[in-house]
Amino acid sequence: MTLVRTAEEVRALLRTRPGSIGFIPTMGALHDGHVSLVTAARAECDTVVASIFVNPAQFGDPADLAHYPRTEAADVARAEAAGVDVVFAPSATEMYPDGFDTWVDVGRLGTILEGAFRPGHFRGVATVCLVLFDIVRPDRAYFGQKDAQQVEVLRRMIRDFRLPVTLRVMPTMRDPDGLAMSSRNVRLGPADRERALVLPRALATRDAVRARQMLAGMDVEYVEVAPFDPPVLAAAVLALAGRMIGLY
Ligand code: PAJ
Repeated sequence: MTLVRTAEEVRALLRTRPGSIGFIPTMGALHDGHVSLVTAARAECDTVVASIFVNPAQFGDPADLAHYPRTEAADVARAEAAGVDVVFAPSATEMYPDGFDTWVDVGRLGTILEGAFRPGHFRGVATVCLVLFDIVRPDRAYFGQKDAQQVEVLRRMIRDFRLPVTLRVMPTMRDPDGLAMSSRNVRLGPADRERALVLPRALATRDAVRARQMLAGMDVEYVEVAPFDPPVLAAAVLALAGRMIGLY
């Protein structure tokens, strides 16, 4: 496995490798959800590239960005064990050089649900993914269904810009108690975690009315059937340790 920090190194390295390229963009703090994407890419592609970049442009809240878990050494070991060939872990200035000022303007999909509560979030996601896709030029890019709106936004961008990449969407990996694996879960204490479990339980009813009833005691931002393909019941609640987002 090779760890590289610049776009130029990624391109030089990939030029020497024949065959198909699979790509898994991540923000690190890797868990079994990320690993499942790597495993899928490993089975389908000759070369597997993963990126680790905590993208400032998709965070609205500077405190959330500052507290985002950063565990690069463990991530690199985890990526290697999972079968990644190339890890791209750029600096913020490598991704956003001085004067960077061109953004993907996500339309309606970027303004509903998560987009309504996190203005600019999907603009940041779409922009960083476009730049990453151009650096890596993957045949297939792997994303988790857990972030269903992210998938919808990227599917739309790939179609609209005719990007030569196939989107592969993988099922949500959950801990045995039902909570979706997430890099942010390390911030949940045992009591927060117990409280947070009502979210997957409510959403597992797949019934917006019942889910709303079950979540009544919590600080709910939205509980809605999202108009995605396929439609999913999505919700976000404010838990003690921050926002929890879930969907089924
Ligand atoms: P991150 O939250 O690190 O997630 C990277 C990828 O792992 C995403 O496609 C996400 O949907 C997937 N993933 C996360 N938890 C998962 C789980 N429990 N089961 C299956 N897949 C899971 O999503 C991002 O980073 C960023 O927005 C990114 C796309 C990298 C752009 O910055």
